[in-house]
Amino acid sequence: MSKSTWLATPNIAVVKYWGKRDSELNLPYNGSVSVTMDETVSTRTTVEFSPSLSRDIFSLNGKTAKPGETMRVSRVLDAVRRAAGVRLRARVYSENNFPTAAGIASSASGFAALACAAADAAGMKASSKQLSLFARMGSGSACRSVIGGFAEWKKGSRADGSDSYAVQVAPASHWPHLRNVIAITDAGRKLIGSDLGMQLTVSGSALYQQRVKKMPSLIREMKSAILSRDLPSFLTLTMKESSNMHAVMLDSTPPIMYLNDISREIMRAVHSFNEQEGETAAGYTFDAGPNAHVYTTEKHARKIERMLSDIEGVKKTIACRAGSGPRRLKEKDALF
Ligand code: DP6
Repeated sequence: MSKSTWLATPNIAVVKYWGKRDSELNLPYNGSVSVTMDETVSTRTTVEFSPSLSRDIFSLNGKTAKPGETMRVSRVLDAVRRAAGVRLRARVYSENNFPTAAGIASSASGFAALACAAADAAGMKASSKQLSLFARMGSGSACRSVIGGFAEWKKGSRADGSDSYAVQVAPASHWPHLRNVIAITDAGRKLIGSDLGMQLTVSGSALYQQRVKKMPSLIREMKSAILSRDLPSFLTLTMKESSNMHAVMLDSTPPIMYLNDISREIMRAVHSFNEQEGETAAGYTFDAGPNAHVYTTEKHARKIERMLSDIEGVKKTIACRAGSGPRRLKEKDALF
């Protein structure tokens, strides 16, 4: 039993997870595909199991976390404890290298770093499948962040979730020229959390069934676009899939609206950029919030960054590449 510190990064889905068949275990109705980001944006987490603790302690960015957040952390720790045969409670400190209110989702990087650090601190030599299963218990999308490069979350069919985890489609080095330019349009927290939003869509959207039905073929097309580095197909599928998710959100009761006027302006700007270039060279995707992730290649990244910065209401842009997944940090980098 020792102290362990890991760093992990967020991932952005190009085929999205929206809807749970089991909300305790975070089991999705459909598989998803994502790109894990490089360390421009990251979370560092230290875990230590200790006989002196009577409950799990979780501190986020230097502050004791809220009970709900600590409960999610304990769910990941419980899964690790069960697998490792450990009974001790743990101290968990976690820090993002970006402000939590920056509008960048930190739960995927946070729970991926937690899964890796906890398994390591418990003395396990966990496989990437096990780490993905642990991370999923904290947040569904986190199961993809334990995988570097391009990942597919297999939805699985078992009731216990043992076959619902992420695998690598291709490493980050497969498509080195790919860039993600993030445009922050709103730094606030989202009004409706993903969990509730997903419930409203599953129970209230008639379009949702059609979305789920076409997912297996979309996932095949997306993986083939990635494997053949077919940029126009990758970007077109990514944009259409983002809009499809936001369409079923709007079709929910009450309607869920995460996009704002600035997001819509970004969508227009990307389409007119592509028209001017005479090819599909950029493509947006939006998660459960108004901030855009615009995929493009190295060749166009600076132009896209300038174009996005010039849009009124865009507060900040961040450009990153695909990253290689979580890594263990040295003892001197521990948070306590
Ligand atoms: C829109 O993973 O945040 O980003 O499992 O309830 O923690 P929980 O949900 P979460 O949902 C992410 C939804 C999404 C799409 C995606 O990342 O696939």
